Amino acid sequence: MSSSRTLAGVLAGIFALAVGIAPAVAQDYPSRAITVIVPFAAGGPTDVIGRIVGDHMSKTLGHTLVIENVVGAGGTTGITRAKRAKNDGYTIAMGHLGTQAAAPALYPNLQYDPVNDFEPIGLAAGTPILILARKDFAPKDLKEFVEYVKKNEKTLNMAHAGVGSVSFTTCLLLNHILKVKPTSIPYQGTGPSMNALVGGQVDYMCDQIVNAVPQVQGGTIKAYAIATEQRNPSLPNVPTSKEGGLPEFQASAWNALIAPKDTPKPIMEKLSAALDKALDDEVTRKRLLELGSDIPGKDRRGGPALAALVKSEIAKWTPVIKAAGPTN
Ligand code: MLT
Repeated sequence: MSSSRTLAGVLAGIFALAVGIAPAVAQDYPSRAITVIVPFAAGGPTDVIGRIVGDHMSKTLGHTLVIENVVGAGGTTGITRAKRAKNDGYTIAMGHLGTQAAAPALYPNLQYDPVNDFEPIGLAAGTPILILARKDFAPKDLKEFVEYVKKNEKTLNMAHAGVGSVSFTTCLLLNHILKVKPTSIPYQGTGPSMNALVGGQVDYMCDQIVNAVPQVQGGTIKAYAIATEQRNPSLPNVPTSKEGGLPEFQASAWNALIAPKDTPKPIMEKLSAALDKALDDEVTRKRLLELGSDIPGKDRRGGPALAALVKSEIAKWTPVIKAAGPTN
C-alpha cells in the first residue's frame, strides 16, 4: 500500500478517535476541580462576584470552582494567563468591563483579543459605579466634591486597580469630565485600595458598588454619587450623578465568565447552564442584590449575549478612553 494511503488511513483513524473522545470527555466533565482565574487581589469586586457565583456553580457541577487570584497590569496579566490555559474546561476566568472592553484601547500590545481569544460563558453581574472618598474628605456633596477636586487636583491622590481596571477606566472618564489630573495610585485590586481609602491614605476612587456597600453603610467611607440613572436599593441615600449636577458621568461595569478559545461546546454549555442556575438561585441572588448588583435577565445571559456585550462595550469605551487622552 502506498505511503500516502497509509498516512491518510492513520490520520482518519486519529480524527475518528478524537471525534469519538470529545463527547466522552464532555460527558464526564467535570471530573475534578475547576480553576477560576480572578485577575485582581482577593476581596475586591471581581473576586467577590467570582466566589458568590462559583459557590453555587460548584454544587451544580459537582466539583469545586477554585479561585486563583492572578494580579497585575490592571487585570490583563490574569486574563492573558487564561488565554494561554488549556481549553479543557478546567481553567476559566472572571473578566469584566476593564479587561474585556477597556484594555484594548489602553494597551497597544495587549497579549489577548477579548473578542477572538475566548469562549463566552456568560454575564455574572452588572455593577454600578460609585464616586467614593475617605470619610473625612471635606466636600459635603457632589457639587462641592467637583469644586474641591478642581481646586486641589495637584494635591489629591486617586486610587485604582491598575491601568485597564474598572476603577481606573471609570475615574478616567470622571477626571476627563472634571478636567483634572490627580496623582493616581495603583493597587492590585480595589480590595486593597478600599483598605487604603478606609485608612485615609488616598482621597477618592471610582469603584463597583459590590465593593463599597458595607463601608458606605458603616460610615467608614463617603459615597458622593452613583453613576446610574436610578438610585440603588442597597444604598438608597446615595444620589445619582444626575441629581448631584453631573449627569454626564454615567458608568456601570459588569463581570463575566470566559473560557479559553475552542473549549469544547458541550463543556461550554455545561458551564453556561451552571452559571444560569446560580443566577436563578435565591440565596445567590440575595447575596448579589445585597451588594447592589444588577442580576442579568435571561435575555442577557449565556455565551451569545456576552459575545455581543463585549463587542458593544469595546465600541463604547474606546472613544471615551481616546478622548480622555494619555493615561500616564
Ligand atoms: C477594578 O477596578 O477593575 C476592579 O474593581 C478591581 C477588583 O475587582 O479588585
